[in-house]
Amino acid sequence: MTGKIVILGVFVADTAYRAERMPRMGETILGNSFALGPGGKGSNQAVAAARAGGAVHFISKLGQDTFADMALATWKEAGVTPQIAQTGDSYTGAAYIFIEEATGDNAIIIAPGAAGTISAGFVEEKADLIGGAAVFMTQLEQPMEAAHRALSIARKGGARTILNPAPAAELPDGMLALCDFVTPNESETEGITGLPVETLDQAREAAELLLAKGAGAAIITLGDKGALYHDATRSEHVPALSAGAVVETTGAGDAFNGAFATALAEGMDPVEAVRFGCACAAISVTRPGTAPSMPPRAEIDALLRDQA
Ligand code: RIB
Repeated sequence: MTGKIVILGVFVADTAYRAERMPRMGETILGNSFALGPGGKGSNQAVAAARAGGAVHFISKLGQDTFADMALATWKEAGVTPQIAQTGDSYTGAAYIFIEEATGDNAIIIAPGAAGTISAGFVEEKADLIGGAAVFMTQLEQPMEAAHRALSIARKGGARTILNPAPAAELPDGMLALCDFVTPNESETEGITGLPVETLDQAREAAELLLAKGAGAAIITLGDKGALYHDATRSEHVPALSAGAVVETTGAGDAFNGAFATALAEGMDPVEAVRFGCACAAISVTRPGTAPSMPPRAEIDALLRDQA
């Protein structure tokens, strides 16, 4: 039994270049490969949540172009219900993704295009959907005012709220108090709290500060070290799972957040939901691409069984 998951965010076309290193300014280097595919943090999370078994609605804006066609086809294949507007006044966004060949690590520039015009007013038009969700989740690739307004509508409606504060940005006063869960990675945590996050103890200190700023629980994702779950009554480190050799880490955070949202919507205990999210992320990094690397539910369950 799963409640409705509503996600606000951005779709972009990912243009991913694998190379030994980044070019310096003014330099051209030869890359090893190129791939074009569906991306954008919100859309990736929606795909991950739906493949993990969630009933997902995705709120966004697209242009009227071939990248928009890619978005619609991606959501149809994954079973995501689009709640979008399409405009001829702008373009569907794109992301430049550099992938370091040796490690699979990445650096990204995103141009959100039409989704960069999502306003508080646009979000208000979806108030019934957002307020009626079991779980509402957003990130920070669309304008901050839209994320803030949507979180307050979701909170008022009784949805459980998740903010994945990515990319890192200064949060307006009061925004964390609207979040049942905030899910930054290490560098985003450092950006929000001003505290270093190099050890588990430091992550706990930073998580405590996120609680002091109003978040119900902080979940700090720690890459190959798993994730820390921290709320007022318990603090638990969930170790990473392994599903094979790492090919590309882009989208691992989205895999985690999407699966975490599905687990919460099913009523799983939050720490178990973190473990479910870690399993989804562990599988996603063994495959290239972002949305295309999100695993179906059966694979997540199998990994959790194998590594119980
Ligand atoms: O989190 C990974 C995503 O960030 C990529 O798909 C890229 O589009 C950027 O939005």
